[in-house]
Amino acid sequence: MAYETITVDIKDHVALITLNRPEALNALNSQLLGELTTALEKADDSDKVRCMVITGSEKAFAAGADITEMADKGFVEMYRQNFFGNESDRFLRVRKPIIAAVSGYALGGGCELAMMCDFIIAADTAKFGQPEINLGVIAGIGGTQRLTRFVGKSKSMDMHLTGRFMDAEEAESCGLVSRIVPAKKLKEEALAAAGKIAEKSLLASMAAKDAVNRSYETTLAEGLNYERRLFFSLFATEDQSEGMAAFTEKREPQFRDK
Ligand code: HXC
Repeated sequence: MAYETITVDIKDHVALITLNRPEALNALNSQLLGELTTALEKADDSDKVRCMVITGSEKAFAAGADITEMADKGFVEMYRQNFFGNESDRFLRVRKPIIAAVSGYALGGGCELAMMCDFIIAADTAKFGQPEINLGVIAGIGGTQRLTRFVGKSKSMDMHLTGRFMDAEEAESCGLVSRIVPAKKLKEEALAAAGKIAEKSLLASMAAKDAVNRSYETTLAEGLNYERRLFFSLFATEDQSEGMAAFTEKREPQFRDK
């Protein structure tokens, strides 16, 4: 399928999806989000892909939802269209791991998109923010909920109420990003992390993603129970036998996703 607002490169079982609307700092419009979710769904279904990386340009991961697309809309249209709600739901149904590789601005919907990924690797130039308050609105695809879970109430309130930006160092120190790398090495480092993930058993990767995400949705007791059931279920896979045999035989495992 030919995309106009993203590019997709698949190599060594990793799909690198690059947001590509440079004229608008990768602002998220319906076309881009539609193409992105379609590309993720295809990657999720493909035997050739075991991990996805979403990135933008050096200047911007994404500067938010496209303000020109929203500016003239009213409540009824936003509500009937479930603006960006359907794409968000499709995104969250993707079961393989997704890494956000963020350089430059990740603002508003851009920050929310990064937070929908499974973890964020930030370039030292990254700037995160939820500046929707400056437009007379608030975050609409998870910002108030996810940022609060990442960084706690006080900092989340600060970000949402003042609209200030957070640099990469602050984002790492408060747990929003997993690591910071030099901007010039962002793609290389993100692909290396994805490559590591792609070496594992896909069944175990998917179970790990599922279990960690469950921790946001349930009580500790239920989450522990959920994890234990998934853990036990992996003992029905050939990859578990192979992984443990390889360890005892002091060799690299050959996972076959079975
Ligand atoms: C549409 C955008 C845009 C956006 C930037 N552009 N952000 N267009 N929507 N979110 C466009 C600019 O209009 C400009 O186009 C070009 O990209 C370059 O941007 P500049 O402003 O000239 O660049 P710079 O001076 O470097 O400033 C960068 C910036 C600023 C700080 C990121 O662009 C900015 O504040 N953008 C808006 C950020 C924002 O408010 N995001 C939240 C959106 S609401 P031209 O044609 O003039 O060259 C949101 C809600 C999510 O995300 C919920 C949805 C359900």
